Amino acid sequence: MWQVFKQDVQRWVVQESIADPELVTKKVAFRLMRHHMGLRAMFWFRFGQWGIEKGIPGSVGRTMRMLHKGYGLEISPRTPVGGGFYIAHTVGTVIQAKRIGSNCSIVSCVTIGMRNEWAFPILEDNVFIGAGARVLGGITIGEGAVIGANAVVIKDVPPRATAVGIPAKIIHVGGEKSQKFSP
Ligand SMILES: CC(C)(COP(=O)(O)OP(=O)(O)OC[C@H]1O[C@@H](n2cnc3c(N)ncnc32)[C@H](O)[C@@H]1OP(=O)(O)O)[C@@H](O)C(=O)NCCC(=O)NCCS
Repeated sequence: MWQVFKQDVQRWVVQESIADPELVTKKVAFRLMRHHMGLRAMFWFRFGQWGIEKGIPGSVGRTMRMLHKGYGLEISPRTPVGGGFYIAHTVGTVIQAKRIGSNCSIVSCVTIGMRNEWAFPILEDNVFIGAGARVLGGITIGEGAVIGANAVVIKDVPPRATAVGIPAKIIHVGGEKSQKFSP
């Protein structure tokens, strides 16, 4: 659990960036958790995932209730989420995704979930989703893609593309923000 949570902590040393893992000790993690609600929520999410892995009964329900009540965040610890998951503001965010890659960022009040049918989005690595955006249906948001604030995304977004508006349209590929985490 520590290894994956450590990657989450890396996103909070300087918010939204990816800090050098050497900088992240348990003491640093504890200090950042005291300051940032988003990181505390992530701790309980990872704890829930650890509970599932260890077969501890009630891990799913308990984690979901805790995240909902304490942080206004809806996400199941059964959702596969890569390390370095950063949710700036948890309140009002609902996440029902098939899979979320590493180092994805969510700003606030985002909905990720089904559209008309029982199919859920996939977020590849390094995806950024702006405040209030909705990502709906069995679509894939490509690696490094950027979803603008308040966009409603109902089609696949190619890697490193920036999509804005309702319904979301691609405005460019390889913009400044999409390159932020590129190797
Ligand atoms: C999409 C975003 C990342 C900007 O990407 P960018 O590649 O730098 O794009 P630009 O700012 O150059 O804008 C390009 C065009 O898209 C439009 N645009 C940008 N963001 C938009 C949005 N969220 N919705 C609709 N149109 C948008 C701009 O008006 C501009 O249009 P124009 O070419 O007709 O003038 C940014 O606007 C955004 O939405 N960030 C989210 C920030 C956030 O969630 N903040 C909340 C903090 S609590």
